Amino acid sequence: MHLQKISLQNFRNYSKAEWIPGRSFNYLFGPNGAGKTNLLEAIYFLIHLQSFRRVQRAGMIGRGADGMYLMGAFGNAEGTQLVRLEAAVSGEARKYKVNGKEEQDLVSYLGQVHAVVFFPESLRFVKEGPFLRRVAFDRAIAAENAPHLPEAREYSRLLRERNRLLKRGGDSGMMDVWERRLLRVASRIVVRRYLYLKSLRQLMPALCRRMGIDPSLEIVYRFIGKSDSRSWDSLLEKTGLGQEEKALESETEGILQEMARDVAGREREQGRTLWGPHLDDFEIFWDGRKAKESASQGEQRLLTIILAICGAESYKQKKNDDPIVLLDDLSSELDQSKRMAVLKYLETMGAQVFITSTERPAVGKNLEDSRIFAIEKGKITAP
Ligand SMILES: Nc1ncnc2c1ncn2[C@@H]1O[C@H](COP(=O)(O)OP(=O)(O)OP(=O)(O)O)[C@@H](O)[C@H]1O
Ligand SMILES: [Mg+2]
Repeated sequence: MHLQKISLQNFRNYSKAEWIPGRSFNYLFGPNGAGKTNLLEAIYFLIHLQSFRRVQRAGMIGRGADGMYLMGAFGNAEGTQLVRLEAAVSGEARKYKVNGKEEQDLVSYLGQVHAVVFFPESLRFVKEGPFLRRVAFDRAIAAENAPHLPEAREYSRLLRERNRLLKRGGDSGMMDVWERRLLRVASRIVVRRYLYLKSLRQLMPALCRRMGIDPSLEIVYRFIGKSDSRSWDSLLEKTGLGQEEKALESETEGILQEMARDVAGREREQGRTLWGPHLDDFEIFWDGRKAKESASQGEQRLLTIILAICGAESYKQKKNDDPIVLLDDLSSELDQSKRMAVLKYLETMGAQVFITSTERPAVGKNLEDSRIFAIEKGKITAP
């Protein structure tokens, strides 16, 4: 999908704005604090109903206003409008509409358009604990696989219940019932993550080669159910080759069940579940070494951006639809040659791209079909 038009009301420093971006490359430049990142955030929020910054919804409402409103019209590359999304937030009240009809079921709202983002803080994705990685990968999986999001929510609900029972020292009959339900959803989530990584691994080498990037990038799915963290591949690779998703799920359920049996005593002592996808991690290897421990700032930037683009490519291939690509502050984050490699790749991919920078970009000769917009104090103009 491509964004054809966006309206913002009381979204951060945009009191009222309407903007028609170009179909492929959109460069947004302006001084610090102008509202460049805010505009990318508005596009992202409209699509994912969440910010990519770590903020509460209330923080996005324009200062002094009661609520905010966003509307976006999306369509195909030829310009036909296909879907209109609206998001209104006022205090605790939220209203989300698809084509004018209010959506109670967020899955159908969220299933319409997909956006990937790269922003300076995404580096935390590499260095911090596993939470951000789980969120990022689960979001990417959900975009390709609609049941993933409701099941992840169901998993959290079951987990909370089971932990409550563990704390209260619930009877074993009850515990068994909750465990069986949790196991079923857990194995579905784990298998989807595993299969997603497998398909990313198939895409990654060609993608890196096309961007002229040498070092290898590897991601390994780890579970922390035992004291020594182990790779899921080593357990499933032998049996997993060519297996159907359903067969993998029952295989996984068996593995998780065994883990659950091993930690049952400790779980009762600690009053929490010590196995399952809420504890798992995605370990990133750059050039054979753990990125978390050894990747430089620049390498972290590069690998985060490769992962974002890889996610975009995967979505495009599976859904036969262009994702929207948001790149915040690309010029200060990547050197000239890597930046060009990234942009060239996106150009051939045909995605609609939004790129911010503080300097007016010198583009036009390298990339076709790019448009430049100036942003100042929450106003967007075409200079
Ligand atoms: N809820 C809000 N209401 C009004 N203004 C806000 C709100 N939240 C943030 N702002 C303002 O938005 C501005 C920051 O916008 P943004 O982060 O988009 O800047 P930027 O153009 O990306 O700048 P930089 O080049 O420094 O990254 C700040 O001036 C901030 O005060
Ligand atoms: Mg910014």
